[in-house]
Amino acid sequence: MTYDIILAMKIMGIETSCDETAAAVVEDGSNILSNVVASQVDIHARYGGIVPEVASRQHLITILPIVKHAISLAKVSFTALDAVAVTYGPGLAGSLLVGVNFAKAIALSFDLPIIGINHLEAHIYANWLTQNQLKFPCLCLIASGGHSDLILMTGHNKFKKIGRTRDDAAGEAFDKAARILDLGYPGGPVIQASASNGIPSVRLPRAWLRGSDDFSFSGLKTALLHLTQSPDYLKNYSISDVAASFQQAIVDVLTQKTIQAAIRLKVKQILVSGGVAANSALRDQFVKESPIPVIIPPPYLCTDNAAMIAACGYYMFSQNGSSHYDIDVVPSLSI
Ligand code: KG4
Ligand code: ZN
Repeated sequence: MTYDIILAMKIMGIETSCDETAAAVVEDGSNILSNVVASQVDIHARYGGIVPEVASRQHLITILPIVKHAISLAKVSFTALDAVAVTYGPGLAGSLLVGVNFAKAIALSFDLPIIGINHLEAHIYANWLTQNQLKFPCLCLIASGGHSDLILMTGHNKFKKIGRTRDDAAGEAFDKAARILDLGYPGGPVIQASASNGIPSVRLPRAWLRGSDDFSFSGLKTALLHLTQSPDYLKNYSISDVAASFQQAIVDVLTQKTIQAAIRLKVKQILVSGGVAANSALRDQFVKESPIPVIIPPPYLCTDNAAMIAACGYYMFSQNGSSHYDIDVVPSLSI
């Protein structure tokens, strides 16, 4: 069954699954009228990672001004909205609760349907915000702080997971490596910055897991730790070269395994998304090496944002209609 979508359908997206409080208004699943993200990165940086209770309390403080800002930038009123879409999982329970309850309040106040969104599916739908030439079947790589999944997508809301990480996610590996190298937090951007001054000359392992579409990054992280503990490490290596080598190891595995699976499955396109897709080395290597067209959203739509929640909401509404008002959070939701 499909549901009728109205022309110029305006959906407010709300995202609070982790440490970004985000709200957006998107028309017809692709036209971004506003997209506001308040990052808590400075607050969590002093702890070297996300502190869940601090994150949820910060969402409570930030959500109202962020939503109001998104409404005002979009130059619409709440009454002009047609639906509200909100992330209900996966993520931190306390953080998700803030967004879901706030979305319920908006939905009830303005008599709007509420659409519960899977954050991972929304990462994939970030691709629909800048491209309207997407073709099924496509192979989607989601590389974020908590996930490294390969998803075969045969239509809207038709997902089949064919690969996952067996241990650390790619973004998590970047974050842990940055801590080992004392570069700061979050790891991806600081490793990318350091790597831009180095060359990938240090030998580090790659887990190919032949015969499987799964990933594994914990061995790479352990190898990095052992390298930094080796005698005369600082005399023998430059941090930038180590950062570039670590980044290259992750990029090689993500690109090669995704491209090989895409060729085997005879897909028409590869869609890359999630925070790690903001990495410039990954983006360059995908485009350079893939014989199949690769679509990657601009970096600001790869990391967590609410425009992707609203875009996903548009397509989910057309497939499934709205969710119930008693929608609960599901911290361990998967695809
Ligand atoms: O998708 P995202 O914003 O949040 C989750 O859903 O997890 O991804 C966050 C992850 C973090 O681990 C961060 O280090 C990584 O994405 N990341 C990057 C870059 N920017 C963010 N990793 C590599 N290179 C980047 N430029
Ligand atoms: Zn995310």
